[in-house]
Amino acid sequence: MTDSANGNSSATPQAIERLTSSAERELEALGGEGEKLEAWRVKYLGRRGALTSILRSLGSLPAADRRVAGAAANRAKARLEGLLDKRLAASGTPGPIGAIDVTLPGRRHVRGRLHPSTQTIQEILAAFNAMGFQTVEGPQVEWERYNFDMLNIPPDHPARDSHDTIWIDRSGGDGILLRTQTSPMQVRTLESTTPPVRIVVPGLCYRFEATDATHEWQFHQIEGLAVDTDITFADLKGTLYEFARRIFGPDRKVRFRCDFFPFVEPGVEMAVDCFKCFGQGCRLCKQTGYIEILGAGMVHPNVLRNAGHDPERYTGYAFGMGPERIAMLRHGIDDIRHFFANDLRFLTQF
Ligand code: PHE
Repeated sequence: MTDSANGNSSATPQAIERLTSSAERELEALGGEGEKLEAWRVKYLGRRGALTSILRSLGSLPAADRRVAGAAANRAKARLEGLLDKRLAASGTPGPIGAIDVTLPGRRHVRGRLHPSTQTIQEILAAFNAMGFQTVEGPQVEWERYNFDMLNIPPDHPARDSHDTIWIDRSGGDGILLRTQTSPMQVRTLESTTPPVRIVVPGLCYRFEATDATHEWQFHQIEGLAVDTDITFADLKGTLYEFARRIFGPDRKVRFRCDFFPFVEPGVEMAVDCFKCFGQGCRLCKQTGYIEILGAGMVHPNVLRNAGHDPERYTGYAFGMGPERIAMLRHGIDDIRHFFANDLRFLTQF
């Protein structure tokens, strides 16, 4: 690299003039081959080229000299670049300007997007938020008492069998587990709040299951809970009906049928009339005309009592649904394992 002493000696207008002329002569003598032209460019105009070095060394000149030499060096640079461009154009080699082919189609920028589960969760939450429900979240690593006992599922209860639990530590009196449902947030919320309560709780849940097209060991749930002094089953029906219309379309019919969950009484499952065949019967609804989308019910008195509330004073309803299942139904996705396989061919479709 040229030091300033060396730079100074060559940074006179005369020296620049000499350099330019010899560069020009050299260029004229060159054949048209792109490689040779490129070597010439590197020698004079490259990052460490002769002219570039002069331009770099200008800073160490006295101000008056710097102005004169700078002007000369810039003129020289423009001249050599112009000559090179002409030669490149003549030889058919694209130069700095010729390199831009304005007829090429533009390069598409790939836009980021939200995961289909996230999109569905956000839509569902928005529907409930609009009806006055507040979004809260809870821990994925949970105490056994919140996930089971306080939800009216004692240790010997058969309902525990259907929740194949992933245990973290079972040695203490109160085990630690990965929550199998978002329902523990019913208890946590009721414990720390005085009704009225209206919440929706999105979050990941885990079950120790063999996976197949409809079962994953990791999945989302959205829990809902409303507790106040005068809440009735009619409120449950009205709210969930409105939700179904917002998410599945304004003409949806809903159907409630008895179901059992230990922490509600009475318990129901809600179905909407098939939004593909409109109740006629098709593969999606397995010819029944209806599609089950969630479990719900009136909060069991034991749950209110466990959380420190008087079931004679307060009533409420709770519901729980799987957003992956809802996304599958809406988009015709045939395998729940797609959601967490991280295959872009799947994810970029949403
Ligand atoms: N937690 C239940 C499940 O995982 C769903 C549910 C939530 C049912 C709230 C009723 C009320 O199956």
